[in-house]
Amino acid sequence: MNAFRDRRVVLGVSGGIAAYKAVEVCRRLVDAGAFVSTILTEDAHRFIGPVTFSALSSEPVHTSLWDDASPIPHTRLGQNADVIVVAPATARIIAAYATGSSYDLLTATLIATRAPVVICPAMHTEMWEHPAVQHNIAVLRSRGVIVVDPQEGRLAGGDVGAGRLADPDTIVGAVEGVLSGRGRDMEGMNITVTAGGTREPIDAVRVIANRSSGKQGYAIAEEAHKRGASVTLISTVDRPTLPGISLVEVETAAQMLQAVETHAPASHVVVMTAAVADFRPVHTADGKIKKQNGIPEIALEATPDILAALGTAKPEHQVLVGFAAETNDVVENARGKLKRKNLDLIVANDVSAPGVGFGHSTNAVTIISADGSETFVPLADKHSIATAVLDSVVAVRSARRSQ
Ligand code: C5P
Repeated sequence: MNAFRDRRVVLGVSGGIAAYKAVEVCRRLVDAGAFVSTILTEDAHRFIGPVTFSALSSEPVHTSLWDDASPIPHTRLGQNADVIVVAPATARIIAAYATGSSYDLLTATLIATRAPVVICPAMHTEMWEHPAVQHNIAVLRSRGVIVVDPQEGRLAGGDVGAGRLADPDTIVGAVEGVLSGRGRDMEGMNITVTAGGTREPIDAVRVIANRSSGKQGYAIAEEAHKRGASVTLISTVDRPTLPGISLVEVETAAQMLQAVETHAPASHVVVMTAAVADFRPVHTADGKIKKQNGIPEIALEATPDILAALGTAKPEHQVLVGFAAETNDVVENARGKLKRKNLDLIVANDVSAPGVGFGHSTNAVTIISADGSETFVPLADKHSIATAVLDSVVAVRSARRSQ
């Protein structure tokens, strides 16, 4: 389901150098199907013009309390909005919103609205870390405002530090969370996700590999990031992902085990999406095995079962999720695995079905919980499957809290 289709988003742009990035945010919201009304502050004008936004969104851009045919544009914009997002939000806008001061169209609209608000601060590190700014941010959070934290990186003037506007994907993801009703329901959670197939070396050039593309694991990592989680992605594949996700590159099952053992203990959630090889060569030949020497016999041994090891050492607070790629008796086999490996959830897919599993952009799964419940998710893109898996994770955590 597209959370943006025909929804009304007010995009507030205040006067920081990052204002140019709001153009990309606007474009993505429009592409996703939203009606976007932009409000530019007077200072934002110094960085970017209204024509760019009106051309992209086909909606008039608002710049002042006084330039609209309607005498009360702030209440109209605020009442009609499904969500308001301010990107970038300067220290001044944040202070005005926190203290209830209204001196222009954007500040008046923020105070006049009942719609959820997403604030995306961007400023120099010294300003972002100032106790007054942090206090205002805390006040806004306590009122239910969603704050998309700035990232570390290059700032205006060549400085480097915290304060750079979050990337457009993260901002649009936060807006999507609001529109879908999920918000940033994974805020404060550490999640470790594994993705891709392991490669076990035979010699210097050859490996035992599998067809896993990593798409499902990346989709889980990215959806968790959009929902506010702090994500570590342990991956064997070279795919682009969202800035803000901490990527650990590995190749073999042994390396994946080591990385997982480093990150899992502090994780609230671990999702083993990776297709880990079950067997590896006992010895890796030095150099390349020469074909002139005849067909080699390669002795194999079992790899460590990473998920089973995680299940044995599982901290009480953790939600452990495994995957089960099956071709027959899908649910029954997956249930057995869930028990044997001490999991909280298992995501079973019938990889013999069309469009399902390895390499495809779509998947169809049954999510089975340790309490016995089963959720079937019919064929959908891997991001929708990821959303369903994370919904189940969140449900397990809230059921535990209410026990
Ligand atoms: O037992 P099976 O290999 O079918 O279980 C699949 C699940 O176990 C997946 O979540 C996969 O990531 C994990 N696994 C593992 N280590 C292995 C094999 C599978 O963690 N050596």
